[in-house]
Amino acid sequence: MSVKKILLFGFFAVFVLSKSLADEGMWMPNLLEKRQVDMQNKGLKISANDIYHEIQPSLKDAVVRFGTGCSGSFISKEGLVLTNYHCGYGQIQALSSVQNDYLQHGFWAKNRHEELPCAGLTVSMVVRTIDVTDAVKAGTTAGMSELEAAEIRRRNTRDLIDEIEKQTEYKAEVRAFFGGNQFYLYLTETFEDVRLVGTPPSSIGKFGGDVDNWTWPRHTGDFALFRVYADPNNKPAKYSPNNVPYQPKKHFKISLNGAQENEFTWIFGYPGRTNLYLTSFGIRQITEIENPIAIHARTKRLDIIRPAMEQDQKTRIQYSAKAAGISNAWKRWQGENYGIQRVDGIAKKEGYEKRFQEWANTFNNGQYRDLLSELKTAYDEMEPLLIQNTIFNEHVLSPEIVNFVNQFVPLIKSSSDKNFPTATFNAVLSRVKGLVTPFFKDFNVDIDKQIFKALSTVEIDCEQVRFIDFPDKNFDKYVDEMYAKSIFTNEKKLNDALRKSKKSNVGKVFGNDPLYVYVNQIFSMYNAMISPALREQRALIDVLQRTYMQAQMEMESDRMFFPDANSTIRIAYGKVEGLTPSDAVTYRFQTTLSGLMAKENPEIFEFTINDKLRDLYNNKDFGVYANAKGEMPICFIASNHTIGGNSGSPVLNGNGDMIGINFDRAWEGTMSGFMFDPKLCRNISVDVRFILFIIDKFAESNHIMAELEVVK
Ligand code: ARG
Ligand code: ASP
Repeated sequence: MSVKKILLFGFFAVFVLSKSLADEGMWMPNLLEKRQVDMQNKGLKISANDIYHEIQPSLKDAVVRFGTGCSGSFISKEGLVLTNYHCGYGQIQALSSVQNDYLQHGFWAKNRHEELPCAGLTVSMVVRTIDVTDAVKAGTTAGMSELEAAEIRRRNTRDLIDEIEKQTEYKAEVRAFFGGNQFYLYLTETFEDVRLVGTPPSSIGKFGGDVDNWTWPRHTGDFALFRVYADPNNKPAKYSPNNVPYQPKKHFKISLNGAQENEFTWIFGYPGRTNLYLTSFGIRQITEIENPIAIHARTKRLDIIRPAMEQDQKTRIQYSAKAAGISNAWKRWQGENYGIQRVDGIAKKEGYEKRFQEWANTFNNGQYRDLLSELKTAYDEMEPLLIQNTIFNEHVLSPEIVNFVNQFVPLIKSSSDKNFPTATFNAVLSRVKGLVTPFFKDFNVDIDKQIFKALSTVEIDCEQVRFIDFPDKNFDKYVDEMYAKSIFTNEKKLNDALRKSKKSNVGKVFGNDPLYVYVNQIFSMYNAMISPALREQRALIDVLQRTYMQAQMEMESDRMFFPDANSTIRIAYGKVEGLTPSDAVTYRFQTTLSGLMAKENPEIFEFTINDKLRDLYNNKDFGVYANAKGEMPICFIASNHTIGGNSGSPVLNGNGDMIGINFDRAWEGTMSGFMFDPKLCRNISVDVRFILFIIDKFAESNHIMAELEVVK
């Protein structure tokens, strides 16, 4: 090859690489300076310091972690939080009853007093981020065993947290990055008094339901409003009627322009977990082993729950949140498998591994030469355990009664343990007593029995094989009897038994309960035979993967790496843009209310349309919220790299004003946790104009509108 050709080739390769990585990335906001130039070149008009600052108020102060698995943001001076309807769904469902069916009708507090406290819901913010890599690793050496090093890191972490928590009022947590090559400490503040302010009916908040979930085009008004309350000093406090609205250091302005095609956009939130630096073996195991077992199991479960929900309002309310949860991952796994296949993900990884191996053969005396083969062996050895574990999680644990009873096991066992303190016993007893009412509120014993029966077999070589030995040949009858004889399936009997329970007699009362005996047995088996071995094997893979991560960073020393998502605060950026998912098919970037009307189907509850919304549509009463063509926008897609946990995240424009809130990804790109493809991966957001329209025109909540800072 001529020198010119070589140069050209090199140039081309770099170009292709930097292009293919163009929109990938979940960046740490405290290190955003490194991305500032790129972001500004693409359309960001503010600085990294405006976005993240340790001392001055910055946009990061307006971003919250909502509950345990979602994101959200402050949109007013008075603690108003905007997040997804589906993020608040569990709370809205728990507050609902046949009399007060907020799922069906929505809920809008007319004043602060009407806002509804949400038990157990938290909202938290990052106060500071500190690189503690050296402190966490201090005292570990290269020659040390992993066990020893892990113990030292654990001790260092604990000491760090203790020390820093002594000096501040905040909570400290240390998180591992790049598979455990770097560590950061986060100071956080968590608020516990969070109240529901407003939610559309589920015919808007969940329009299209599980049918449209994970797909584009979408017509879902997936948003809800909450408010954070604080004590009079603006500090976190347990619920009290005397608490006052929290005053955040910063809140987002809302852009009346909404999302414009091709504009620069970025997203600020808490992505949960990605595995972007995994090997081909790792991806194969997930897509070919784990996902198929889990998908099968959930299909069976949904086939039981869904028809029951359609037949009865009470069952619908009881199982709506549970069914949404079961179906959500079920569908995503299918999307991941499709996407990985679509982009030839495993072959791509294999190609990368081939290059890696060539490099490793010579790099630093072959330091990493055996790494990939060790990883492969470790995955092979894990496979049987992974199969058993997935069966345990997706089959054995699928009847709800199993987990419920399991929470009583320590209490019942303590009866025969002389050293178990009575005070602890009483504390545990009062805790489990509290589980009973919420459990039975949403429990239907017939559904649960059906699930128990249907999920007790797995398909092996096209045959249904029962994986737990039961003494009786008539299995269904056996299950019926187990449920019938057990105290745990009867709320009144269970409460009576708990009321009479003392440390001395609880073993007698519950010890022979058939469900207790069963649950105790399967968990003992799992805890002895599956879980420790799997944990050990995972730990081995984690160490190898950490080394592999480091080696990849050494091999591609001029590539800017970002750490896999780990539920810490991140930023991703891209463009508002449509999608060409397959040959001859092109999706526009935006959906509108007329598209929602066109999906109407009174026969299917996911596609029924609220009367008031229909009137607003028929009267074209869109106010200032219409787009330039006079249409009412609902959702849009963009090429921001997102993952589960990003739901509720503010989606922003170049000025840092809000144009939408994230809630989903398009089907063709749901593999974005393993492999991001800028051509196929799109995040889906609700356009803020639709949110304003619903608050203003639909809910007529002028007092909420007055709180917001709407800008052009
Ligand atoms: N797919 C979105 C996410 O992962 C939305 C899920 C809620 N909606 C539903 N129909 N289950 O959270
Ligand atoms: N719907 C997801 C969430 O709840 C977002 C996603 O997976 O794209 O976080």
